[in-house]
Amino acid sequence: MTAPLAIVGGTGFTAIAGFHEGRRESLVTPYGAPSAPLVHGTLHDRPVVTLQRHGARGNIPPHRVNYRANLWAVQHCGARDVIAIAAVGGIAAAASPGRLVFPEQLVDYTYGREHTFEGSDPASVRHVDFTHPYSAPLRARLVQTASRLGLDALDGGVYGATQGPRLETAAEIAKLERDGCTVVGMTGMPEAALARELDLGYACCAVVVNPAAGKSGEAITMDVIRANLQAGMQRVDELLVEFARTTAKDEV
Ligand code: HPA
Repeated sequence: MTAPLAIVGGTGFTAIAGFHEGRRESLVTPYGAPSAPLVHGTLHDRPVVTLQRHGARGNIPPHRVNYRANLWAVQHCGARDVIAIAAVGGIAAAASPGRLVFPEQLVDYTYGREHTFEGSDPASVRHVDFTHPYSAPLRARLVQTASRLGLDALDGGVYGATQGPRLETAAEIAKLERDGCTVVGMTGMPEAALARELDLGYACCAVVVNPAAGKSGEAITMDVIRANLQAGMQRVDELLVEFARTTAKDEV
């Protein structure tokens, strides 16, 4: 059976145009329930399974997402590769609102989240290599796809994962910038690390929905975020459809 491509959608992710929805699977995992039922289907004949990270009603905040259950469930469905869609704030000038960003590194500022599958085996602990947190082939495919479509996208950059749900202070963003962060979001970790622990290929497609705190001289309002999110998600849609169309069923 062909492995489905997993898509974990963030804020603003609902349905993908052209997605032929099949069965919904409500799973219970050893780590509890995932954020929502997993939706199986096809996109251009490619098997796909989608999961809404913030729940079907979008009401699970970043620090309450059950990342372990989500990743476990995705793997249980047979997926080997995960595309994570995430709304982010732009820190670097190159990360302007509306742009898609495919980060190649991350810095984790989150705390107090269940962040590992390790610890249940009293006999051993595995320290996974996380030098390169994102799958290089999957990321490259996404970048190629965006470029073929002529989408305004940034290849590379560093994702700073903050705790939320509040947005950052200007000083915090200045610190993240000094740390080398290009964009800031609240869900990139521990998701990426858990995917690595499960040996899943994982790449992030970030949608810049606002200039990060202190970057525009204006307050960050939900109206601004929503407007950029809507336009950004249309591009994500195009990207996913083209990705499915141009990649063979069992490759990234
Ligand atoms: N900061 C953190 N997370 C975000 C932001 C931001 O400015 N915008 C969207 N997600």
